[in-house]
Amino acid sequence: MGVALELREYQGGYLVMNEIVVDPTATLMWPSLLQSAQRIKATTLTQLFAENPDRVASLTFEAAGYSVDFSKNLIDDTVVTQLLALARELGIEALRDAMFAGEIINTSERRRVLHTALRAPRESSLMIEGVDVVAEIQAVLDQMGRFVDQVRSGFWRGATGKVITDVVNIGIGGSHLGPLLAGEALRRRVSAPLTVHFIANIDGADFDTETASLNPETTLFVVSSKSFTTAETMMNASLAKAWIIHALGDEAVAKHFVAVSGDRRAVASFGIDPDNTFAMWDFVGGRYSLGSAIGLSTMLLIGRDAFIEMLAGFRDIDEHFTTAPLEKNVPVLFGLLRIWYSCFLGAQSLGVMPYAADLRSLPGYLQQLVMESNGKRVTRDGKPLATPSGPIVWGAPGTDGQHSFFQLLHQGTHLAPMDLVGYLHPLSSHRESHDQLMANLFAQSQALAFGRSAEQLIAEGTPSWLVPHRTVPGNHPSTLILGERLNPRAFGALIGLYEHDVFVQGAILGIDSFDQWGVELGKDLAAVITDEVQGVKAIGDHDPSTGRAIERYRAARRDWAT
Ligand code: F6P
Repeated sequence: MGVALELREYQGGYLVMNEIVVDPTATLMWPSLLQSAQRIKATTLTQLFAENPDRVASLTFEAAGYSVDFSKNLIDDTVVTQLLALARELGIEALRDAMFAGEIINTSERRRVLHTALRAPRESSLMIEGVDVVAEIQAVLDQMGRFVDQVRSGFWRGATGKVITDVVNIGIGGSHLGPLLAGEALRRRVSAPLTVHFIANIDGADFDTETASLNPETTLFVVSSKSFTTAETMMNASLAKAWIIHALGDEAVAKHFVAVSGDRRAVASFGIDPDNTFAMWDFVGGRYSLGSAIGLSTMLLIGRDAFIEMLAGFRDIDEHFTTAPLEKNVPVLFGLLRIWYSCFLGAQSLGVMPYAADLRSLPGYLQQLVMESNGKRVTRDGKPLATPSGPIVWGAPGTDGQHSFFQLLHQGTHLAPMDLVGYLHPLSSHRESHDQLMANLFAQSQALAFGRSAEQLIAEGTPSWLVPHRTVPGNHPSTLILGERLNPRAFGALIGLYEHDVFVQGAILGIDSFDQWGVELGKDLAAVITDEVQGVKAIGDHDPSTGRAIERYRAARRDWAT
Protein backbone atom coordinates (compact mmCIF):
# COMPACT_ATOMS: atom_id res chain seq x y z
CA MET A 1 0.00 0.00 0.00
CA GLY A 2 1.23 3.46 -0.80
CA VAL A 3 2.09 6.19 1.60
CA ALA A 4 -0.10 9.23 1.42
CA LEU A 5 -0.25 12.49 3.26
CA GLU A 6 -3.86 13.11 4.07
CA LEU A 7 -4.80 16.76 4.10
CA ARG A 8 -8.32 17.28 5.35
CA GLU A 9 -10.20 20.47 5.83
CA TYR A 10 -11.34 20.65 9.38
CA GLN A 11 -13.10 23.42 11.27
CA GLY A 12 -11.75 26.14 9.03
CA GLY A 13 -8.20 24.78 9.22
CA TYR A 14 -6.36 21.71 8.06
CA LEU A 15 -5.75 18.47 9.77
CA VAL A 16 -2.66 16.86 8.25
CA MET A 17 -3.21 13.30 9.33
CA ASN A 18 0.35 12.08 9.07
CA GLU A 19 2.40 14.94 10.34
CA ILE A 20 0.63 17.41 12.58
CA VAL A 21 -0.77 16.46 15.93
CA VAL A 22 -2.45 18.90 18.22
CA ASP A 23 -1.04 18.83 21.74
CA PRO A 24 -4.13 18.29 23.92
CA THR A 25 -2.61 20.41 26.67
CA ALA A 26 -2.61 23.35 24.22
CA THR A 27 -6.37 23.18 23.66
CA LEU A 28 -8.82 25.77 24.96
CA MET A 29 -10.50 23.19 27.14
CA TRP A 30 -7.42 21.88 28.93
CA PRO A 31 -7.12 24.75 31.50
CA SER A 32 -10.86 24.52 32.20
CA LEU A 33 -10.53 20.80 32.85
CA LEU A 34 -7.58 21.42 35.18
CA GLN A 35 -9.81 23.78 37.15
CA SER A 36 -12.62 21.26 37.23
CA ALA A 37 -10.18 18.67 38.55
CA GLN A 38 -9.51 20.89 41.57
CA ARG A 39 -13.24 21.11 42.24
CA ILE A 40 -13.81 17.37 41.84
CA LYS A 41 -10.84 16.50 44.07
CA ALA A 42 -12.53 18.50 46.83
CA THR A 43 -15.82 16.63 46.56
CA THR A 44 -16.96 13.04 46.98
CA LEU A 45 -19.27 10.66 45.18
CA THR A 46 -21.65 10.95 48.13
CA GLN A 47 -21.85 14.71 47.62
CA LEU A 48 -22.16 14.39 43.85
CA PHE A 49 -25.12 12.04 44.27
CA ALA A 50 -26.72 14.32 46.87
CA GLU A 51 -26.39 17.36 44.59
CA ASN A 52 -28.11 15.78 41.60
CA PRO A 53 -31.08 13.45 42.07
CA ASP A 54 -31.07 12.72 38.30
CA ARG A 55 -27.45 11.67 38.29
CA VAL A 56 -28.03 8.00 37.43
CA ALA A 57 -30.48 8.76 34.64
CA SER A 58 -28.30 11.46 33.12
CA LEU A 59 -25.13 9.37 33.27
CA THR A 60 -26.48 6.01 32.09
CA PHE A 61 -26.28 5.22 28.37
CA GLU A 62 -27.26 2.37 26.09
CA ALA A 63 -25.04 0.93 23.40
CA ALA A 64 -25.24 -2.31 21.42
CA GLY A 65 -27.32 -4.07 24.07
CA TYR A 66 -25.33 -2.80 27.06
CA SER A 67 -26.43 -0.37 29.71
CA VAL A 68 -23.46 1.63 30.95
CA ASP A 69 -23.82 3.52 34.22
CA PHE A 70 -21.09 6.15 34.61
CA SER A 71 -22.71 7.74 37.68
CA LYS A 72 -20.27 6.28 40.21
CA ASN A 73 -17.38 8.12 38.58
CA LEU A 74 -15.71 11.29 39.82
CA ILE A 75 -17.36 13.49 37.23
CA ASP A 76 -20.18 15.99 37.03
CA ASP A 77 -22.10 17.59 34.16
CA THR A 78 -19.49 20.33 33.76
CA VAL A 79 -16.66 17.82 33.45
CA VAL A 80 -18.56 15.79 30.87
CA THR A 81 -19.37 18.93 28.86
CA GLN A 82 -15.74 20.03 28.96
CA LEU A 83 -14.44 16.57 27.98
CA LEU A 84 -16.82 16.49 25.03
CA ALA A 85 -15.66 19.96 23.98
CA LEU A 86 -12.05 18.73 24.23
CA ALA A 87 -12.92 15.81 21.96
CA ARG A 88 -14.47 18.16 19.43
CA GLU A 89 -11.55 20.58 19.62
CA LEU A 90 -9.19 17.70 18.82
CA GLY A 91 -11.28 16.57 15.84
CA ILE A 92 -12.26 13.19 17.25
CA GLU A 93 -15.04 12.71 14.71
CA ALA A 94 -12.73 13.44 11.77
CA LEU A 95 -10.15 10.98 13.11
CA ARG A 96 -12.80 8.32 13.67
CA ASP A 97 -14.15 8.80 10.16
CA ALA A 98 -10.61 8.67 8.76
CA MET A 99 -10.12 5.25 10.40
CA PHE A 100 -13.37 3.84 9.04
CA ALA A 101 -12.60 5.26 5.57
CA GLY A 102 -9.27 3.44 5.48
CA GLU A 103 -6.95 6.42 5.64
CA ILE A 104 -3.40 5.92 6.83
CA ILE A 105 -3.80 6.71 10.51
CA ASN A 106 -1.11 4.24 11.63
CA THR A 107 1.44 6.80 10.59
CA SER A 108 4.67 5.30 11.94
CA GLU A 109 4.03 2.05 10.08
CA ARG A 110 2.34 3.85 7.17
CA ARG A 111 -0.66 1.57 7.41
CA ARG A 112 -4.38 1.81 7.23
CA VAL A 113 -6.39 0.64 10.22
CA LEU A 114 -9.33 -1.37 9.02
CA HIS A 115 -10.33 -3.95 11.60
CA THR A 116 -13.78 -2.37 11.28
CA ALA A 117 -13.95 -3.69 7.69
CA LEU A 118 -13.76 -7.23 9.13
CA ARG A 119 -17.35 -6.81 10.28
CA ALA A 120 -18.66 -4.49 7.59
CA PRO A 121 -21.94 -5.73 6.06
CA ARG A 122 -21.34 -8.41 3.43
CA GLU A 123 -23.11 -6.36 0.76
CA SER A 124 -21.10 -3.17 1.44
CA SER A 125 -17.85 -2.28 -0.24
CA LEU A 126 -14.74 -0.29 0.61
CA MET A 127 -12.39 0.47 -2.25
CA ILE A 128 -8.76 0.84 -1.26
CA GLU A 129 -6.35 1.41 -4.13
CA GLY A 130 -8.74 -0.23 -6.56
CA VAL A 131 -9.45 -3.27 -4.40
CA ASP A 132 -12.70 -3.92 -2.57
CA VAL A 133 -11.40 -4.97 0.84
CA VAL A 134 -14.86 -6.00 2.07
CA ALA A 135 -15.11 -8.49 -0.81
CA GLU A 136 -11.64 -9.86 0.06
CA ILE A 137 -12.61 -10.21 3.71
CA GLN A 138 -15.86 -11.95 2.87
CA ALA A 139 -14.00 -14.37 0.58
CA VAL A 140 -11.73 -15.38 3.47
CA LEU A 141 -14.73 -15.70 5.80
CA ASP A 142 -16.32 -18.04 3.24
CA GLN A 143 -13.09 -20.06 3.00
CA MET A 144 -13.01 -20.30 6.80
CA GLY A 145 -16.66 -21.34 6.86
CA ARG A 146 -16.15 -24.13 4.32
CA PHE A 147 -13.13 -25.46 6.18
CA VAL A 148 -14.87 -25.25 9.56
CA ASP A 149 -17.92 -27.11 8.22
CA GLN A 150 -15.64 -29.85 6.92
CA VAL A 151 -13.80 -30.27 10.21
CA ARG A 152 -16.85 -30.02 12.45
CA SER A 153 -18.85 -32.46 10.30
CA GLY A 154 -16.04 -35.00 10.32
CA PHE A 155 -15.54 -34.72 6.54
CA TRP A 156 -12.01 -33.44 7.07
CA ARG A 157 -10.00 -36.31 8.48
CA GLY A 158 -6.48 -36.77 9.79
CA ALA A 159 -3.83 -38.67 7.84
CA THR A 160 -4.97 -42.03 9.21
CA GLY A 161 -8.63 -41.36 8.40
CA LYS A 162 -9.73 -40.39 11.90
CA VAL A 163 -12.07 -37.49 12.67
CA ILE A 164 -10.43 -34.39 14.21
CA THR A 165 -11.33 -34.07 17.89
CA ASP A 166 -8.80 -31.49 19.08
CA VAL A 167 -7.62 -28.21 17.62
CA VAL A 168 -4.47 -26.49 18.88
CA ASN A 169 -4.04 -22.79 18.15
CA ILE A 170 -0.36 -21.90 18.09
CA GLY A 171 0.10 -18.14 18.29
CA ILE A 172 0.95 -15.37 20.72
CA GLY A 173 -0.21 -11.84 21.53
CA GLY A 174 -3.05 -10.86 19.24
CA SER A 175 -2.84 -14.25 17.57
CA HIS A 176 -3.63 -15.95 20.88
CA LEU A 177 -5.36 -13.73 23.40
CA GLY A 178 -8.49 -13.03 21.34
CA PRO A 179 -9.12 -16.66 20.35
CA LEU A 180 -8.41 -17.75 23.94
CA LEU A 181 -10.88 -15.24 25.38
CA ALA A 182 -13.55 -15.92 22.74
CA GLY A 183 -13.18 -19.67 23.14
CA GLU A 184 -13.74 -19.45 26.89
CA ALA A 185 -16.52 -16.88 26.61
CA LEU A 186 -18.57 -18.60 23.93
CA ARG A 187 -18.00 -22.34 24.05
CA ARG A 188 -20.92 -22.82 26.47
CA ARG A 189 -23.33 -20.96 24.22
CA VAL A 190 -23.02 -23.29 21.26
CA SER A 191 -22.47 -26.99 20.81
CA ALA A 192 -18.82 -27.75 20.21
CA PRO A 193 -17.83 -31.05 18.66
CA LEU A 194 -14.18 -30.17 19.27
CA THR A 195 -11.90 -29.15 22.08
CA VAL A 196 -9.61 -26.19 21.38
CA HIS A 197 -6.22 -25.86 23.07
CA PHE A 198 -3.74 -23.01 23.03
CA ILE A 199 0.04 -22.95 22.92
CA ALA A 200 1.60 -19.51 23.18
CA ASN A 201 4.57 -19.57 25.52
CA ILE A 202 8.01 -20.39 24.13
CA ASP A 203 8.61 -22.49 27.26
CA GLY A 204 8.64 -26.06 25.96
CA ALA A 205 6.75 -27.03 29.11
CA ASP A 206 3.68 -25.32 27.63
CA PHE A 207 3.92 -27.48 24.52
CA ASP A 208 4.31 -30.64 26.60
CA THR A 209 1.39 -29.78 28.88
CA GLU A 210 -1.01 -29.02 26.06
CA THR A 211 -0.10 -32.02 23.91
CA ALA A 212 0.24 -34.55 26.76
CA SER A 213 -3.29 -35.86 26.43
CA LEU A 214 -3.62 -35.41 22.66
CA ASN A 215 -3.61 -38.08 19.98
CA PRO A 216 -1.68 -36.91 16.89
CA GLU A 217 -4.13 -38.81 14.66
CA THR A 218 -7.04 -36.63 15.77
CA THR A 219 -5.26 -33.30 16.33
CA LEU A 220 -5.26 -30.30 14.00
CA PHE A 221 -2.81 -27.43 14.49
CA VAL A 222 -3.74 -23.89 13.48
CA VAL A 223 -0.53 -21.86 13.22
CA SER A 224 -1.67 -18.27 13.69
CA SER A 225 0.83 -15.55 12.95
CA LYS A 226 0.27 -12.47 10.85
CA SER A 227 4.01 -12.08 10.25
CA PHE A 228 4.92 -15.77 10.40
CA THR A 229 8.21 -14.73 11.96
CA THR A 230 7.30 -14.47 15.64
CA ALA A 231 9.90 -16.51 17.54
CA GLU A 232 7.52 -18.15 20.01
CA THR A 233 5.08 -19.23 17.34
CA MET A 234 7.75 -20.48 14.96
CA MET A 235 9.39 -22.51 17.73
CA ASN A 236 6.11 -24.08 18.84
CA ALA A 237 5.04 -24.74 15.25
CA SER A 238 8.34 -26.58 14.67
CA LEU A 239 7.79 -28.67 17.80
CA ALA A 240 4.28 -29.49 16.62
CA LYS A 241 5.49 -30.44 13.17
CA ALA A 242 8.12 -32.73 14.64
CA TRP A 243 5.47 -34.23 16.96
CA ILE A 244 3.15 -35.02 14.03
CA ILE A 245 5.94 -36.31 11.76
CA HIS A 246 7.31 -38.49 14.55
CA ALA A 247 3.91 -40.11 15.03
CA LEU A 248 2.48 -40.13 11.51
CA GLY A 249 5.24 -39.36 8.99
CA ASP A 250 6.00 -36.41 6.68
CA GLU A 251 2.90 -36.80 4.55
CA ALA A 252 0.64 -36.17 7.54
CA VAL A 253 1.55 -32.47 7.78
CA ALA A 254 -0.96 -31.55 5.05
CA LYS A 255 -3.88 -33.00 7.03
CA HIS A 256 -2.82 -31.80 10.47
CA PHE A 257 -1.69 -28.20 9.85
CA VAL A 258 -3.38 -25.08 8.59
CA ALA A 259 -2.08 -21.52 8.88
CA VAL A 260 -3.42 -18.02 9.30
CA SER A 261 -0.96 -15.44 8.04
CA GLY A 262 -0.28 -12.43 5.90
CA ASP A 263 2.80 -14.11 4.45
CA ARG A 264 1.78 -17.04 2.25
CA ARG A 265 5.33 -17.61 1.06
CA ALA A 266 6.66 -18.06 4.60
CA VAL A 267 3.79 -20.45 5.31
CA ALA A 268 4.60 -22.49 2.22
CA SER A 269 8.29 -22.68 3.07
CA PHE A 270 7.34 -23.95 6.54
CA GLY A 271 5.57 -26.80 4.73
CA ILE A 272 1.90 -25.93 5.10
CA ASP A 273 -0.27 -26.33 2.00
CA PRO A 274 -1.07 -22.85 0.52
CA ASP A 275 -4.65 -24.11 0.00
CA ASN A 276 -4.89 -24.47 3.75
CA THR A 277 -3.74 -20.93 4.44
CA PHE A 278 -6.14 -18.21 5.51
CA ALA A 279 -5.16 -14.64 4.67
CA MET A 280 -4.49 -11.70 6.98
CA TRP A 281 -3.93 -8.12 5.91
CA ASP A 282 -1.50 -5.47 7.04
CA PHE A 283 -4.45 -3.15 7.74
CA VAL A 284 -5.55 -5.37 10.63
CA GLY A 285 -3.37 -5.06 13.73
CA GLY A 286 -2.72 -8.22 15.75
CA ARG A 287 -4.59 -7.00 18.82
CA TYR A 288 -7.56 -6.05 16.66
CA SER A 289 -7.66 -9.30 14.70
CA LEU A 290 -10.16 -11.52 16.51
CA GLY A 291 -12.74 -10.96 13.76
CA SER A 292 -10.28 -12.00 11.04
CA ALA A 293 -9.03 -15.49 10.19
CA ILE A 294 -7.03 -15.27 13.44
CA GLY A 295 -10.41 -16.28 14.89
CA LEU A 296 -10.30 -19.57 12.96
CA SER A 297 -9.96 -21.65 16.11
CA THR A 298 -12.95 -19.76 17.54
CA MET A 299 -15.01 -20.53 14.45
CA LEU A 300 -13.96 -24.18 14.65
CA LEU A 301 -15.20 -24.24 18.23
CA ILE A 302 -18.46 -22.31 17.94
CA GLY A 303 -19.32 -22.82 14.27
CA ARG A 304 -19.76 -20.48 11.32
CA ASP A 305 -23.13 -18.99 12.35
CA ALA A 306 -22.09 -18.07 15.88
CA PHE A 307 -18.90 -16.48 14.55
CA ILE A 308 -20.95 -14.36 12.15
CA GLU A 309 -23.17 -13.43 15.09
CA MET A 310 -20.07 -12.29 16.99
CA LEU A 311 -19.14 -10.10 14.01
CA ALA A 312 -22.66 -8.64 14.10
CA GLY A 313 -22.01 -7.62 17.70
CA PHE A 314 -18.83 -5.83 16.65
CA ARG A 315 -20.87 -4.14 13.91
CA ASP A 316 -23.53 -3.03 16.42
CA ILE A 317 -20.94 -1.07 18.34
CA ASP A 318 -19.32 0.25 15.15
CA GLU A 319 -22.69 1.67 14.15
CA HIS A 320 -23.19 3.21 17.55
CA PHE A 321 -19.68 4.69 17.54
CA THR A 322 -20.11 6.22 14.09
CA THR A 323 -23.67 7.51 14.45
CA ALA A 324 -24.48 8.31 18.09
CA PRO A 325 -24.02 11.95 19.08
CA LEU A 326 -20.87 12.39 21.14
CA GLU A 327 -23.00 13.16 24.23
CA LYS A 328 -24.44 9.64 24.12
CA ASN A 329 -21.57 7.86 22.44
CA VAL A 330 -20.44 5.21 24.91
CA PRO A 331 -16.95 4.49 23.48
CA VAL A 332 -16.33 8.25 23.28
CA LEU A 333 -17.47 8.74 26.87
CA PHE A 334 -15.35 5.81 28.00
CA GLY A 335 -12.25 7.11 26.22
CA LEU A 336 -12.75 10.58 27.68
CA LEU A 337 -13.26 9.14 31.16
CA ARG A 338 -9.90 7.34 30.97
CA ILE A 339 -8.27 10.61 29.88
CA TRP A 340 -9.95 12.44 32.75
CA TYR A 341 -8.60 10.00 35.33
CA SER A 342 -5.07 9.79 33.98
CA CYS A 343 -4.44 13.37 32.86
CA PHE A 344 -6.41 15.29 35.48
CA LEU A 345 -6.88 13.12 38.57
CA GLY A 346 -3.57 11.22 38.49
CA ALA A 347 -4.82 7.64 38.14
CA GLN A 348 -2.37 5.30 36.42
CA SER A 349 -4.40 2.18 35.92
CA LEU A 350 -7.67 0.70 34.78
CA GLY A 351 -9.09 -2.31 36.57
CA VAL A 352 -11.50 -4.57 34.69
CA MET A 353 -13.56 -7.05 36.68
CA PRO A 354 -15.84 -9.33 34.69
CA TYR A 355 -18.54 -10.83 36.89
CA ALA A 356 -18.75 -13.76 34.48
CA ALA A 357 -16.29 -16.61 34.94
CA ASP A 358 -16.25 -17.25 31.20
CA LEU A 359 -14.74 -13.78 30.71
CA ARG A 360 -11.80 -14.71 32.94
CA SER A 361 -9.33 -13.89 30.17
CA LEU A 362 -10.81 -10.45 29.48
CA PRO A 363 -8.26 -8.56 31.64
CA GLY A 364 -5.36 -10.30 29.89
CA TYR A 365 -6.86 -9.58 26.47
CA LEU A 366 -7.38 -5.93 27.38
CA GLN A 367 -3.84 -5.64 28.67
CA GLN A 368 -2.58 -6.13 25.14
CA LEU A 369 -5.34 -4.10 23.51
CA VAL A 370 -4.96 -1.08 25.77
CA MET A 371 -1.29 -1.16 26.73
CA GLU A 372 0.21 -2.15 23.38
CA SER A 373 -1.99 0.48 21.73
CA ASN A 374 -1.54 3.46 24.02
CA GLY A 375 1.66 2.74 25.91
CA LYS A 376 3.61 5.23 23.82
CA ARG A 377 6.09 8.00 24.62
CA VAL A 378 5.58 10.27 21.62
CA THR A 379 2.72 11.64 19.57
CA ARG A 380 2.09 10.72 15.94
CA ASP A 381 4.47 13.44 14.84
CA GLY A 382 7.27 12.15 17.07
CA LYS A 383 7.09 14.79 19.80
CA PRO A 384 7.31 13.73 23.47
CA LEU A 385 3.91 13.29 25.09
CA ALA A 386 2.88 16.23 27.24
CA THR A 387 0.50 13.90 29.08
CA PRO A 388 0.71 10.46 30.68
CA SER A 389 0.33 7.61 28.20
CA GLY A 390 -2.58 5.16 28.36
CA PRO A 391 -3.32 3.28 31.60
CA ILE A 392 -1.89 0.05 33.02
CA VAL A 393 -4.66 -2.55 32.82
CA TRP A 394 -5.22 -5.23 35.40
CA GLY A 395 -8.11 -7.24 36.79
CA ALA A 396 -9.60 -10.59 37.66
CA PRO A 397 -13.02 -12.13 37.48
CA GLY A 398 -15.47 -11.32 40.24
CA THR A 399 -15.79 -12.65 42.81
CA ASP A 400 -12.24 -14.07 42.84
CA GLY A 401 -10.64 -10.62 43.00
CA GLN A 402 -12.69 -9.70 46.06
CA HIS A 403 -10.78 -12.32 48.04
CA SER A 404 -7.36 -11.17 46.92
CA PHE A 405 -6.69 -7.54 45.96
CA PHE A 406 -10.01 -5.78 46.66
CA GLN A 407 -8.81 -5.00 50.18
CA LEU A 408 -6.46 -2.39 48.69
CA LEU A 409 -9.26 -0.99 46.57
CA HIS A 410 -11.46 -0.44 49.60
CA GLN A 411 -8.94 0.86 52.10
CA GLY A 412 -5.71 1.52 50.18
CA THR A 413 -4.71 5.01 49.14
CA HIS A 414 -4.60 4.61 45.35
CA LEU A 415 -7.04 6.04 42.88
CA ALA A 416 -7.90 2.96 40.83
CA PRO A 417 -10.89 3.40 38.50
CA MET A 418 -12.61 0.19 37.51
CA ASP A 419 -15.01 -1.32 35.03
CA LEU A 420 -17.42 -3.84 36.53
CA VAL A 421 -19.00 -6.04 33.87
CA GLY A 422 -21.97 -8.36 34.43
CA TYR A 423 -24.90 -10.07 32.69
CA LEU A 424 -28.51 -10.19 33.83
CA HIS A 425 -29.10 -13.77 32.70
CA PRO A 426 -27.01 -16.70 33.94
CA LEU A 427 -24.73 -18.88 31.83
CA SER A 428 -25.41 -21.93 33.94
CA SER A 429 -28.54 -23.52 35.35
CA HIS A 430 -27.42 -22.61 38.87
CA ARG A 431 -29.72 -19.66 39.49
CA GLU A 432 -28.82 -19.22 43.13
CA SER A 433 -25.15 -18.89 42.14
CA HIS A 434 -26.03 -16.21 39.62
CA ASP A 435 -28.06 -14.31 42.21
CA GLN A 436 -25.08 -14.26 44.50
CA LEU A 437 -22.67 -13.40 41.71
CA MET A 438 -24.71 -10.37 40.71
CA ALA A 439 -25.38 -9.41 44.33
CA ASN A 440 -21.61 -9.26 44.79
CA LEU A 441 -21.22 -7.11 41.68
CA PHE A 442 -23.79 -4.61 42.94
CA ALA A 443 -22.40 -4.74 46.48
CA GLN A 444 -18.89 -3.95 45.31
CA SER A 445 -20.04 -1.08 43.15
CA GLN A 446 -21.85 0.40 46.19
CA ALA A 447 -19.11 -0.32 48.71
CA LEU A 448 -16.39 1.16 46.52
CA ALA A 449 -18.35 4.35 45.94
CA PHE A 450 -19.92 4.96 49.34
CA GLY A 451 -17.98 2.85 51.82
CA ARG A 452 -18.91 2.58 55.48
CA SER A 453 -18.38 5.67 57.61
CA ALA A 454 -17.05 5.95 61.14
CA GLU A 455 -20.43 7.37 62.24
CA GLN A 456 -22.20 4.31 60.89
CA LEU A 457 -19.81 1.98 62.70
CA ILE A 458 -20.17 3.86 65.99
CA ALA A 459 -23.96 3.77 65.65
CA GLU A 460 -23.70 0.01 65.16
CA GLY A 461 -21.79 -0.27 68.42
CA THR A 462 -18.28 -0.87 67.07
CA PRO A 463 -15.65 -0.36 69.83
CA SER A 464 -13.97 3.01 69.22
CA TRP A 465 -10.45 1.50 68.92
CA LEU A 466 -11.69 -0.65 66.03
CA VAL A 467 -13.53 2.12 64.17
CA PRO A 468 -10.52 3.43 62.15
CA HIS A 469 -9.66 -0.10 61.05
CA ARG A 470 -13.15 -0.90 59.94
CA THR A 471 -13.91 2.43 58.28
CA VAL A 472 -14.18 2.18 54.50
CA PRO A 473 -13.95 5.69 53.08
CA GLY A 474 -15.55 4.98 49.70
CA ASN A 475 -15.15 7.47 46.85
CA HIS A 476 -13.54 4.79 44.66
CA PRO A 477 -14.89 5.16 41.12
CA SER A 478 -16.31 2.39 39.00
CA THR A 479 -18.44 2.04 35.87
CA LEU A 480 -21.17 -0.57 35.79
CA ILE A 481 -21.50 -2.31 32.42
CA LEU A 482 -24.56 -4.52 32.27
CA GLY A 483 -25.51 -6.79 29.39
CA GLU A 484 -28.46 -9.13 28.95
CA ARG A 485 -26.62 -12.41 28.36
CA LEU A 486 -23.13 -13.36 27.29
CA ASN A 487 -23.79 -14.64 23.76
CA PRO A 488 -21.65 -14.23 20.63
CA ARG A 489 -23.30 -10.95 19.65
CA ALA A 490 -22.96 -9.39 23.11
CA PHE A 491 -19.38 -10.61 23.28
CA GLY A 492 -18.47 -8.99 19.94
CA ALA A 493 -20.08 -5.73 21.04
CA LEU A 494 -18.12 -5.70 24.31
CA ILE A 495 -14.78 -6.21 22.57
CA GLY A 496 -15.61 -3.61 19.93
CA LEU A 497 -16.56 -1.19 22.69
CA TYR A 498 -13.10 -1.49 24.23
CA GLU A 499 -11.43 -1.20 20.80
CA HIS A 500 -13.12 2.14 20.19
CA ASP A 501 -12.53 3.30 23.76
CA VAL A 502 -8.80 2.73 23.12
CA PHE A 503 -9.05 4.59 19.81
CA VAL A 504 -10.62 7.61 21.51
CA GLN A 505 -7.91 7.73 24.17
CA GLY A 506 -5.18 7.54 21.54
CA ALA A 507 -6.86 10.20 19.44
CA ILE A 508 -7.06 12.61 22.38
CA LEU A 509 -3.44 12.00 23.37
CA GLY A 510 -2.31 12.25 19.73
CA ILE A 511 -0.79 8.77 19.91
CA ASP A 512 -0.39 6.27 17.09
CA SER A 513 -2.42 3.53 18.78
CA PHE A 514 -1.65 1.00 16.07
CA ASP A 515 2.11 0.55 16.13
CA GLN A 516 4.17 -1.29 18.79
CA TRP A 517 7.81 -0.36 18.28
CA GLY A 518 8.58 -0.75 21.96
CA VAL A 519 8.47 -4.54 21.80
CA GLU A 520 11.17 -4.75 19.12
CA LEU A 521 14.20 -4.11 21.33
CA GLY A 522 13.48 -7.13 23.53
CA LYS A 523 13.01 -9.32 20.45
CA ASP A 524 16.33 -8.14 18.94
CA LEU A 525 18.24 -8.71 22.16
CA ALA A 526 16.67 -12.13 22.72
CA ALA A 527 17.84 -13.22 19.25
CA VAL A 528 21.43 -12.16 20.01
CA ILE A 529 21.40 -13.68 23.50
CA THR A 530 19.96 -16.97 22.21
CA ASP A 531 23.11 -17.36 20.09
CA GLU A 532 25.22 -16.47 23.10
CA VAL A 533 23.57 -18.87 25.56
CA GLN A 534 23.85 -21.64 22.98
CA GLY A 535 27.54 -20.86 22.44
CA VAL A 536 27.02 -20.09 18.75
CA LYS A 537 28.56 -16.69 19.49
CA ALA A 538 30.85 -15.37 22.22
CA ILE A 539 29.10 -13.38 24.92
CA GLY A 540 28.99 -9.82 23.63
CA ASP A 541 28.72 -6.46 25.22
CA HIS A 542 26.10 -6.45 27.97
CA ASP A 543 25.58 -4.58 31.19
CA PRO A 544 27.31 -6.41 34.08
CA SER A 545 24.07 -7.78 35.51
CA THR A 546 22.85 -9.28 32.23
CA GLY A 547 26.35 -10.51 31.34
CA ARG A 548 26.60 -12.37 34.65
CA ALA A 549 23.18 -13.97 34.24
CA ILE A 550 24.14 -15.21 30.76
CA GLU A 551 27.42 -16.65 32.16
CA ARG A 552 25.55 -18.47 34.92
CA TYR A 553 23.05 -19.88 32.46
CA ARG A 554 25.81 -21.09 30.15
CA ALA A 555 27.49 -22.82 33.10
CA ALA A 556 24.22 -24.50 34.08
CA ARG A 557 23.63 -25.49 30.48
CA ARG A 558 26.97 -27.31 30.38
CA ASP A 559 25.60 -29.59 33.10
CA TRP A 560 22.59 -30.58 31.00
CA ALA A 561 24.69 -33.07 29.06
CA THR A 562 25.80 -34.88 32.23
O1 F6P B 1 5.33 -8.62 19.61
C1 F6P B 1 4.11 -8.01 19.55
C2 F6P B 1 3.28 -8.56 18.43
O2 F6P B 1 3.76 -8.07 17.22
C3 F6P B 1 1.82 -8.24 18.61
O3 F6P B 1 1.50 -6.97 18.19
C4 F6P B 1 1.18 -9.33 17.85
O4 F6P B 1 -0.17 -9.49 18.21
C5 F6P B 1 2.03 -10.51 18.27
O5 F6P B 1 3.33 -9.97 18.36
C6 F6P B 1 2.00 -11.69 17.35
O6 F6P B 1 2.37 -11.35 16.06
P1 F6P B 1 2.18 -12.36 14.85
O7 F6P B 1 0.73 -12.57 14.65
O8 F6P B 1 2.84 -11.68 13.68
O9 F6P B 1 2.88 -13.64 15.21
